[in-house]
Amino acid sequence: MSSKRVSSAATPVTPGVLSKAPRTPGEYEQEQERCRALVERRLNGFFTDVRESCRTLAESMKYSLLAGGKRIRPVLCIKFCEAAGGMAEDAIDAACAIEMLHTYSLIHDDLPCMDDDDLRRGMPSNHIRYGEFTATLAGDALQAAAFETLLSAPLPPGIIVEMAKTLAEAAGPRGICGGQYLDLAAEKGCLEQTGEQLEELYAMKTAALYVASARIGVLAAGGSAQQLMKAEEYAGAVGLAFQIRDDILDVVSTEAVLGKPIGSDSNKGKATIQSVIGMAECEAIIAAQTEKAIKAAGEAFEDSGFLAWLAADLAKRKY
Ligand code: IPE
Ligand code: IPE
Ligand code: MG
Ligand code: MG
Ligand code: MG
Repeated sequence: MSSKRVSSAATPVTPGVLSKAPRTPGEYEQEQERCRALVERRLNGFFTDVRESCRTLAESMKYSLLAGGKRIRPVLCIKFCEAAGGMAEDAIDAACAIEMLHTYSLIHDDLPCMDDDDLRRGMPSNHIRYGEFTATLAGDALQAAAFETLLSAPLPPGIIVEMAKTLAEAAGPRGICGGQYLDLAAEKGCLEQTGEQLEELYAMKTAALYVASARIGVLAAGGSAQQLMKAEEYAGAVGLAFQIRDDILDVVSTEAVLGKPIGSDSNKGKATIQSVIGMAECEAIIAAQTEKAIKAAGEAFEDSGFLAWLAADLAKRKY
Protein backbone atom coordinates (compact mmCIF):
# COMPACT_ATOMS: atom_id res chain seq x y z
CA MET A 1 0.00 0.00 0.00
CA SER A 2 1.11 3.53 -0.58
CA SER A 3 2.25 5.59 2.34
CA LYS A 4 0.45 8.65 0.96
CA ARG A 5 -2.80 8.53 2.88
CA VAL A 6 -3.55 11.86 4.47
CA SER A 7 -5.21 14.49 2.31
CA SER A 8 -2.99 17.45 1.80
CA ALA A 9 -4.21 20.97 1.11
CA ALA A 10 -5.11 21.65 -2.51
CA THR A 11 -1.93 21.95 -4.53
CA PRO A 12 -2.79 23.18 -8.02
CA VAL A 13 -0.59 21.85 -10.77
CA THR A 14 0.22 24.03 -13.72
CA PRO A 15 -0.85 21.99 -16.74
CA GLY A 16 2.05 20.93 -18.89
CA VAL A 17 4.78 22.25 -16.60
CA LEU A 18 5.05 19.27 -14.27
CA SER A 19 3.62 16.72 -16.68
CA LYS A 20 5.72 13.65 -17.38
CA ALA A 21 6.83 13.13 -20.95
CA PRO A 22 3.93 11.95 -23.10
CA ARG A 23 3.86 8.27 -24.04
CA THR A 24 2.77 6.85 -27.37
CA PRO A 25 -0.81 5.61 -27.87
CA GLY A 26 0.59 2.07 -27.93
CA GLU A 27 2.15 2.60 -24.51
CA TYR A 28 -1.14 3.91 -23.13
CA GLU A 29 -2.91 0.85 -24.54
CA GLN A 30 -0.39 -1.40 -22.80
CA GLU A 31 -1.02 0.54 -19.62
CA GLN A 32 -4.75 -0.09 -19.96
CA GLU A 33 -4.09 -3.80 -20.58
CA ARG A 34 -1.93 -3.99 -17.46
CA CYS A 35 -4.80 -2.60 -15.36
CA ARG A 36 -7.39 -4.83 -17.05
CA ALA A 37 -5.25 -7.90 -16.39
CA LEU A 38 -4.99 -6.99 -12.69
CA VAL A 39 -8.77 -6.66 -12.50
CA GLU A 40 -9.46 -9.90 -14.42
CA ARG A 41 -7.10 -11.85 -12.20
CA ARG A 42 -8.67 -10.55 -8.99
CA LEU A 43 -12.26 -10.96 -10.26
CA ASN A 44 -11.57 -14.61 -11.04
CA GLY A 45 -11.03 -15.34 -7.35
CA PHE A 46 -14.49 -14.33 -6.07
CA PHE A 47 -17.51 -16.49 -5.17
CA THR A 48 -15.65 -19.72 -4.55
CA ASP A 49 -17.16 -20.18 -1.07
CA VAL A 50 -20.88 -20.16 -1.96
CA ARG A 51 -22.71 -23.19 -0.55
CA GLU A 52 -23.17 -26.13 -2.90
CA SER A 53 -26.98 -25.81 -3.03
CA CYS A 54 -26.59 -22.24 -4.39
CA ARG A 55 -24.01 -23.27 -6.97
CA THR A 56 -26.17 -22.14 -9.90
CA LEU A 57 -26.63 -18.68 -8.38
CA ALA A 58 -22.85 -18.30 -7.95
CA GLU A 59 -22.35 -19.64 -11.47
CA SER A 60 -24.76 -17.07 -12.92
CA MET A 61 -22.98 -14.25 -11.04
CA LYS A 62 -19.64 -15.35 -12.49
CA TYR A 63 -21.19 -15.91 -15.91
CA SER A 64 -21.90 -12.19 -16.27
CA LEU A 65 -18.99 -10.86 -14.22
CA LEU A 66 -16.35 -12.82 -16.14
CA ALA A 67 -17.94 -12.38 -19.56
CA GLY A 68 -15.29 -9.97 -20.76
CA GLY A 69 -16.55 -6.43 -20.26
CA LYS A 70 -14.28 -3.53 -21.20
CA ARG A 71 -13.50 -2.90 -17.50
CA ILE A 72 -13.41 0.85 -18.05
CA ARG A 73 -14.66 1.82 -14.58
CA PRO A 74 -12.12 -0.29 -12.65
CA VAL A 75 -9.33 0.94 -14.94
CA LEU A 76 -10.41 4.51 -14.19
CA CYS A 77 -10.38 3.77 -10.47
CA ILE A 78 -6.86 2.32 -10.59
CA LYS A 79 -5.46 5.04 -12.85
CA PHE A 80 -6.89 7.85 -10.71
CA CYS A 81 -5.35 6.18 -7.68
CA GLU A 82 -1.98 6.08 -9.44
CA ALA A 83 -2.37 9.64 -10.75
CA ALA A 84 -2.93 10.81 -7.16
CA GLY A 85 0.25 9.08 -5.98
CA GLY A 86 -1.12 5.71 -4.89
CA MET A 87 -0.43 2.19 -6.09
CA ALA A 88 -2.76 -0.09 -8.06
CA GLU A 89 -2.87 -2.43 -5.06
CA ASP A 90 -4.50 0.34 -2.99
CA ALA A 91 -7.44 0.49 -5.41
CA ILE A 92 -7.81 -3.07 -6.72
CA ASP A 93 -10.51 -4.26 -4.28
CA ALA A 94 -12.55 -1.11 -4.80
CA ALA A 95 -12.07 -1.45 -8.56
CA CYS A 96 -13.45 -5.01 -8.44
CA ALA A 97 -16.35 -3.82 -6.29
CA ILE A 98 -17.20 -1.19 -8.89
CA GLU A 99 -17.16 -3.79 -11.68
CA MET A 100 -19.47 -6.05 -9.64
CA LEU A 101 -21.91 -3.21 -9.17
CA HIS A 102 -21.73 -2.29 -12.85
CA THR A 103 -22.34 -5.95 -13.84
CA TYR A 104 -25.39 -6.11 -11.56
CA SER A 105 -26.76 -3.01 -13.30
CA LEU A 106 -26.29 -4.67 -16.72
CA ILE A 107 -28.02 -7.92 -15.66
CA HIS A 108 -31.02 -5.98 -14.40
CA ASP A 109 -30.98 -3.58 -17.37
CA ASP A 110 -31.45 -6.57 -19.73
CA LEU A 111 -34.40 -8.09 -17.82
CA PRO A 112 -37.78 -8.30 -19.61
CA CYS A 113 -39.25 -5.67 -17.24
CA MET A 114 -36.46 -3.26 -18.21
CA ASP A 115 -34.80 -3.25 -21.67
CA ASP A 116 -35.69 -6.86 -22.46
CA ASP A 117 -32.42 -7.55 -24.30
CA ASP A 118 -31.20 -11.07 -25.05
CA LEU A 119 -27.51 -10.46 -25.69
CA ARG A 120 -24.85 -9.01 -23.41
CA ARG A 121 -21.05 -9.04 -23.68
CA GLY A 122 -21.42 -11.24 -26.74
CA MET A 123 -23.33 -13.96 -24.88
CA PRO A 124 -26.97 -14.70 -24.05
CA SER A 125 -28.12 -12.27 -21.33
CA ASN A 126 -28.13 -13.65 -17.80
CA HIS A 127 -31.91 -14.22 -17.69
CA ILE A 128 -31.82 -16.01 -21.07
CA ARG A 129 -29.14 -18.37 -19.79
CA TYR A 130 -30.34 -18.83 -16.18
CA GLY A 131 -33.95 -17.63 -16.08
CA GLU A 132 -35.45 -14.50 -14.59
CA PHE A 133 -35.46 -15.23 -10.88
CA THR A 134 -31.86 -16.41 -10.89
CA ALA A 135 -30.76 -13.41 -12.97
CA THR A 136 -32.57 -10.99 -10.68
CA LEU A 137 -30.94 -12.55 -7.61
CA ALA A 138 -27.53 -12.73 -9.32
CA GLY A 139 -27.80 -8.95 -9.81
CA ASP A 140 -28.89 -8.40 -6.20
CA ALA A 141 -26.07 -10.64 -4.94
CA LEU A 142 -23.46 -8.87 -7.08
CA GLN A 143 -24.56 -5.54 -5.65
CA ALA A 144 -24.22 -6.89 -2.09
CA ALA A 145 -20.87 -8.50 -2.99
CA ALA A 146 -19.66 -5.14 -4.28
CA PHE A 147 -20.13 -3.58 -0.85
CA GLU A 148 -18.71 -6.62 0.95
CA THR A 149 -15.61 -6.44 -1.26
CA LEU A 150 -15.18 -2.70 -0.77
CA LEU A 151 -15.71 -2.90 2.99
CA SER A 152 -13.14 -5.73 3.25
CA ALA A 153 -10.37 -3.78 1.48
CA PRO A 154 -7.15 -3.45 3.52
CA LEU A 155 -7.39 0.35 3.85
CA PRO A 156 -7.89 2.71 6.80
CA PRO A 157 -11.53 2.60 8.03
CA GLY A 158 -12.11 6.31 7.40
CA ILE A 159 -11.21 5.93 3.73
CA ILE A 160 -13.36 2.82 3.36
CA VAL A 161 -16.38 4.61 4.84
CA GLU A 162 -15.94 7.47 2.38
CA MET A 163 -15.57 5.02 -0.53
CA ALA A 164 -18.67 3.06 0.49
CA LYS A 165 -20.73 6.26 0.78
CA THR A 166 -19.50 7.28 -2.67
CA LEU A 167 -20.47 3.93 -4.23
CA ALA A 168 -23.86 3.88 -2.48
CA GLU A 169 -24.67 7.36 -3.75
CA ALA A 170 -23.79 6.35 -7.31
CA ALA A 171 -25.92 3.20 -7.06
CA GLY A 172 -29.03 4.65 -5.46
CA PRO A 173 -31.84 7.07 -6.31
CA ARG A 174 -29.43 9.93 -7.09
CA GLY A 175 -27.43 7.64 -9.37
CA ILE A 176 -28.05 4.43 -11.33
CA CYS A 177 -31.46 3.50 -9.85
CA GLY A 178 -32.77 7.05 -10.22
CA GLY A 179 -31.49 7.32 -13.79
CA GLN A 180 -32.81 3.89 -14.76
CA TYR A 181 -36.18 4.80 -13.22
CA LEU A 182 -36.40 7.99 -15.27
CA ASP A 183 -35.22 6.16 -18.40
CA LEU A 184 -37.92 3.50 -18.15
CA ALA A 185 -40.70 5.73 -16.82
CA ALA A 186 -40.20 7.98 -19.83
CA GLU A 187 -40.15 5.03 -22.22
CA LYS A 188 -43.22 3.29 -20.83
CA GLY A 189 -45.20 6.51 -20.40
CA CYS A 190 -44.00 7.89 -23.75
CA LEU A 191 -43.18 11.21 -22.10
CA GLU A 192 -41.51 13.89 -24.17
CA GLN A 193 -37.85 14.28 -23.27
CA THR A 194 -35.70 17.28 -24.09
CA GLY A 195 -31.98 16.99 -24.77
CA GLU A 196 -31.31 18.69 -21.43
CA GLN A 197 -33.52 16.27 -19.49
CA LEU A 198 -31.75 13.38 -21.18
CA GLU A 199 -28.36 14.78 -20.19
CA GLU A 200 -29.52 14.88 -16.55
CA LEU A 201 -30.81 11.32 -16.80
CA TYR A 202 -27.50 10.15 -18.34
CA ALA A 203 -25.58 11.88 -15.57
CA MET A 204 -27.50 9.65 -13.15
CA LYS A 205 -27.77 6.31 -14.94
CA THR A 206 -24.24 6.26 -16.38
CA ALA A 207 -21.94 9.13 -15.38
CA ALA A 208 -22.60 8.69 -11.64
CA LEU A 209 -20.66 5.40 -11.58
CA TYR A 210 -17.85 6.98 -13.60
CA VAL A 211 -17.66 9.80 -11.05
CA ALA A 212 -17.65 7.30 -8.19
CA SER A 213 -14.89 5.24 -9.86
CA ALA A 214 -12.62 8.25 -10.25
CA ARG A 215 -13.38 9.58 -6.77
CA ILE A 216 -12.79 6.20 -5.14
CA GLY A 217 -9.45 5.93 -6.95
CA VAL A 218 -8.31 9.30 -5.59
CA LEU A 219 -9.59 8.36 -2.11
CA ALA A 220 -7.53 5.14 -2.23
CA ALA A 221 -4.40 7.24 -2.74
CA GLY A 222 -5.29 9.81 -0.09
CA GLY A 223 -5.45 12.52 -2.77
CA SER A 224 -6.23 16.18 -2.15
CA ALA A 225 -9.60 17.93 -2.18
CA GLN A 226 -8.69 19.57 -5.46
CA GLN A 227 -7.81 16.21 -7.00
CA LEU A 228 -11.16 14.81 -5.86
CA MET A 229 -12.99 17.74 -7.42
CA LYS A 230 -11.15 17.55 -10.75
CA ALA A 231 -11.42 13.76 -10.89
CA GLU A 232 -15.19 14.10 -10.52
CA GLU A 233 -15.29 16.78 -13.19
CA TYR A 234 -13.30 14.56 -15.56
CA ALA A 235 -15.42 11.48 -14.94
CA GLY A 236 -18.75 13.31 -15.15
CA ALA A 237 -17.79 14.57 -18.59
CA VAL A 238 -16.37 11.23 -19.80
CA GLY A 239 -19.43 9.38 -18.46
CA LEU A 240 -21.87 11.64 -20.28
CA ALA A 241 -19.90 11.33 -23.54
CA PHE A 242 -19.80 7.55 -22.98
CA GLN A 243 -23.60 7.22 -22.80
CA ILE A 244 -24.11 9.47 -25.82
CA ARG A 245 -21.67 7.29 -27.81
CA ASP A 246 -23.58 4.22 -26.53
CA ASP A 247 -26.81 5.64 -28.01
CA ILE A 248 -25.07 6.33 -31.32
CA LEU A 249 -23.57 2.83 -31.45
CA ASP A 250 -27.05 1.38 -30.85
CA VAL A 251 -27.89 2.86 -34.26
CA VAL A 252 -24.71 2.56 -36.31
CA SER A 253 -22.82 -0.48 -34.99
CA THR A 254 -23.34 -4.21 -35.45
CA GLU A 255 -24.27 -6.91 -32.98
CA ALA A 256 -21.00 -8.76 -33.68
CA VAL A 257 -18.88 -5.71 -32.83
CA LEU A 258 -20.96 -4.45 -29.90
CA GLY A 259 -21.84 -7.80 -28.30
CA LYS A 260 -25.37 -6.54 -27.60
CA PRO A 261 -28.48 -6.02 -29.73
CA ILE A 262 -28.58 -3.18 -32.25
CA GLY A 263 -31.71 -1.01 -32.35
CA SER A 264 -32.49 -1.84 -28.73
CA ASP A 265 -33.56 1.75 -28.09
CA SER A 266 -35.45 2.55 -31.31
CA ASN A 267 -37.30 -0.80 -31.28
CA LYS A 268 -38.93 0.25 -28.03
CA GLY A 269 -39.56 3.81 -29.19
CA LYS A 270 -37.16 4.96 -26.46
CA ALA A 271 -36.13 8.60 -26.81
CA THR A 272 -32.34 8.82 -26.72
CA ILE A 273 -30.25 11.92 -27.00
CA GLN A 274 -29.33 10.80 -30.52
CA SER A 275 -32.98 10.56 -31.60
CA VAL A 276 -33.87 13.89 -29.95
CA ILE A 277 -31.01 16.19 -30.98
CA GLY A 278 -29.43 14.31 -33.90
CA MET A 279 -26.01 12.85 -34.68
CA ALA A 280 -24.12 16.09 -35.39
CA GLU A 281 -25.16 17.72 -32.13
CA CYS A 282 -24.29 14.53 -30.25
CA GLU A 283 -20.80 14.49 -31.77
CA ALA A 284 -20.37 18.14 -30.74
CA ILE A 285 -21.32 17.34 -27.13
CA ILE A 286 -18.97 14.33 -27.06
CA ALA A 287 -16.10 16.51 -28.34
CA ALA A 288 -16.83 19.30 -25.83
CA GLN A 289 -17.16 16.91 -22.87
CA THR A 290 -13.93 15.15 -23.84
CA GLU A 291 -12.08 18.45 -23.99
CA LYS A 292 -13.54 19.43 -20.61
CA ALA A 293 -12.38 16.12 -19.12
CA ILE A 294 -8.83 16.42 -20.46
CA LYS A 295 -8.56 19.98 -19.13
CA ALA A 296 -9.84 18.96 -15.67
CA ALA A 297 -7.34 16.10 -15.36
CA GLY A 298 -4.47 18.38 -16.41
CA GLU A 299 -5.40 20.89 -13.72
CA ALA A 300 -4.90 18.57 -10.76
CA PHE A 301 -2.62 15.68 -11.69
CA GLU A 302 1.08 15.90 -12.49
CA ASP A 303 0.85 13.07 -14.98
CA SER A 304 -2.51 13.21 -16.70
CA GLY A 305 -1.28 11.65 -19.96
CA PHE A 306 -3.11 8.35 -19.60
CA LEU A 307 -6.32 10.02 -18.43
CA ALA A 308 -6.25 12.38 -21.42
CA TRP A 309 -5.59 9.49 -23.80
CA LEU A 310 -8.42 7.43 -22.28
CA ALA A 311 -10.96 10.26 -22.57
CA ALA A 312 -10.04 10.76 -26.24
CA ASP A 313 -10.01 7.01 -26.92
CA LEU A 314 -13.47 6.50 -25.37
CA ALA A 315 -14.87 9.43 -27.34
CA LYS A 316 -14.19 7.61 -30.60
CA ARG A 317 -14.79 4.06 -29.37
CA LYS A 318 -16.43 1.55 -31.71
CA TYR A 319 -17.76 -0.82 -28.99
C1 IPE B 1 -22.69 -0.49 -20.82
O1 IPE B 1 -21.45 -0.19 -20.27
C2 IPE B 1 -23.74 0.28 -20.11
C3 IPE B 1 -23.70 1.73 -20.35
C4 IPE B 1 -23.56 2.57 -19.39
C5 IPE B 1 -23.84 2.24 -21.68
P1 IPE B 1 -20.10 -0.71 -20.95
O2 IPE B 1 -20.12 -0.35 -22.41
O3 IPE B 1 -18.94 -0.21 -20.16
O4 IPE B 1 -20.25 -2.27 -20.83
P2 IPE B 1 -19.15 -3.41 -20.62
O5 IPE B 1 -18.79 -3.39 -19.18
O6 IPE B 1 -17.98 -3.13 -21.50
O7 IPE B 1 -19.87 -4.68 -20.99
C1 IPE C 1 -27.24 2.19 -19.51
O1 IPE C 1 -28.10 2.33 -20.56
C2 IPE C 1 -27.58 1.08 -18.60
C3 IPE C 1 -27.13 1.15 -17.23
C4 IPE C 1 -26.89 2.19 -16.56
C5 IPE C 1 -27.03 -0.14 -16.57
P1 IPE C 1 -28.40 1.29 -21.73
O2 IPE C 1 -29.61 0.51 -21.45
O3 IPE C 1 -28.36 2.05 -23.00
O4 IPE C 1 -27.14 0.31 -21.71
P2 IPE C 1 -26.94 -0.87 -22.75
O5 IPE C 1 -26.96 -0.26 -24.13
O6 IPE C 1 -28.06 -1.84 -22.54
O7 IPE C 1 -25.59 -1.43 -22.42
MG1 MG D 1 -31.31 0.65 -20.33
MG1 MG E 1 -29.98 -1.55 -22.08
MG1 MG F 1 -27.56 1.48 -24.81
